[in-house]
Amino acid sequence: MRLQDKRTLVTGGSDGIGLAITEAFLREGADVLIVGRDVGKLEAARQKLTALGPAGQVEMVSADLATSPGIAAIIEHVRASGRPLDILVNNAGVAYLVPFETVSEAQFQHSFALNVTAAFFLTQGLLPHLGPCASVINISSYFASKMIPKRPSSLYSLSKGALNSLTKSLAFELGPRGIRVNAIAPGTVDTAMRRKTVDNLPAEAQAELRAYVERSYPLGRIGRPDDLAGMAVYLASDEAAWTSGGIFAIDGGYTAG
Ligand SMILES: NC(=O)c1ccc[n+]([C@@H]2O[C@H](COP(=O)([O-])OP(=O)(O)OC[C@H]3O[C@@H](n4cnc5c(N)ncnc54)[C@H](OP(=O)(O)O)[C@@H]3O)[C@@H](O)[C@H]2O)c1
Repeated sequence: MRLQDKRTLVTGGSDGIGLAITEAFLREGADVLIVGRDVGKLEAARQKLTALGPAGQVEMVSADLATSPGIAAIIEHVRASGRPLDILVNNAGVAYLVPFETVSEAQFQHSFALNVTAAFFLTQGLLPHLGPCASVINISSYFASKMIPKRPSSLYSLSKGALNSLTKSLAFELGPRGIRVNAIAPGTVDTAMRRKTVDNLPAEAQAELRAYVERSYPLGRIGRPDDLAGMAVYLASDEAAWTSGGIFAIDGGYTAG
């Protein structure tokens, strides 16, 4: 197994991409700690993960990472456990796909709090608790560099662009300590987040979006959460010992065009 006994923390590990990554980590022998807000969702995820078999241990903690106390609680949980982390996945995120002229300050603050500040200060606070050769993986988005017609993304793109900059600067700054920092930039993935942003569009706009997606993805479909898991396992594993500062597009070829 490629992640035998590695201790991992996945933010937003109770659903979508984070859950698929957690599942893959567990199958590779890692012990996993998942973080989300909703205890019911965390418990459902824990049951699903535990049912996979005797691989690694599954632990869950509820915290709102868009807040300083939430971030502090997770850092304290890891510190108190006395066991260093080998892998940190900054995955929890929020997407406000709203026109530039309507973005509210509250949406701006929330987007940055979760997509940028949480990744920044969680990684900073966990630094003393990261094991040698630790791997940090940030879940970015194709929206950092490529837009979709009629999907206004100024705020979301800005926050994921900031996360990409953080990925590269931390790879440079933490590399001398043996810590690797990379990002995965998924294309459109069928998760609750996507459904939330699509379901509130008028039917005509949904149909238009579906048609656009179908002709824009060279591989002919949008992603499933487990499409991201292979790259996450690779970046987490020792196979990626000389891989740092990369922003890896896993998007069915979408950003190649
Ligand atoms: N889906 C896509 O098409 C797509 C494409 C590119 C990039 N991404 C990125 O991939 C990442 C995961 O997205 P997803 O689509 O898998 O989302 P999702 O299905 O909505 O899952 C989000 C996860 O994050 C947790 N979460 C949300 N807000 C949180 C908070 N304030 N504090 C702690 N946990 C929180 C959620 O649990 P609770 O609700 O219980 O807190 C859930 O476990 C995000 O960073 C997103 O930007 C997604």
